[in-house]
Amino acid sequence: MIRLVVGSFLVISHIYYAELAPTENYPYSEALASNYMLYWKYNDTHITFETHVQAHGFTGFGISVNGSMFPGDVIIGYVSHHNVHLNDYHTTAHAPPTMDSSQDWTLISSKENHDSTVLKFSRALNTHDSDDIPIHAGVTHVIWAYTTTDPKSPTELIYHAANRGSKDIKLIAKGTVPVGK
Ligand code: HEM
Repeated sequence: MIRLVVGSFLVISHIYYAELAPTENYPYSEALASNYMLYWKYNDTHITFETHVQAHGFTGFGISVNGSMFPGDVIIGYVSHHNVHLNDYHTTAHAPPTMDSSQDWTLISSKENHDSTVLKFSRALNTHDSDDIPIHAGVTHVIWAYTTTDPKSPTELIYHAANRGSKDIKLIAKGTVPVGK
């Protein structure tokens, strides 16, 4: 009997604490922080990202000209009461990003479990929007941030405090995509 109870507890706790697996087998992945995983894939024209963040606030992800918060091209997404919000913004200061008038990201899916938020979204490598930064072959300055609580709305964003960073990543391997397309 005790063995049965302990066994059930282990099974239940394993299910409860199981991490959310990526929605597909991505060719590329990178840990941006110990609790922030990035997966991606691309073709000649588009790139798809999937972010796994161990927090229940907003997920911020984007690219910047020099690795700083600005000038940058970012998405901010969050899941609140089963509604997902994912919007295209640009950064011009150490201040809340401005929402782009042209929304160029497509939300593919989202998920939240007991402690994590997963967002999957895609975009053209070059959107031809002056508020966006084209993604070329070679090293890209990726920036990320997250919060532990949801903002009130996509235009009432909250400060990430220490939960932010940047990483230089070869998102697109050289030679696989025509640069400047
Ligand atoms: C309400 C929204 C935001 C506010 C008020 C804000 C504010 C700030 C401030 C004051 C700093 C400098 C102090 C510090 O290092 O913490 C900073 C840095 C930083 N932020 Fe944000 N931020 C916001 C959103 C974002 C988003 C969405 C991203 C990424 C997608 C981001 C990425 C960064 C990064 C990488 C840094 C460190 C590099 C740097 O100093 O430029 N921030 N932010």
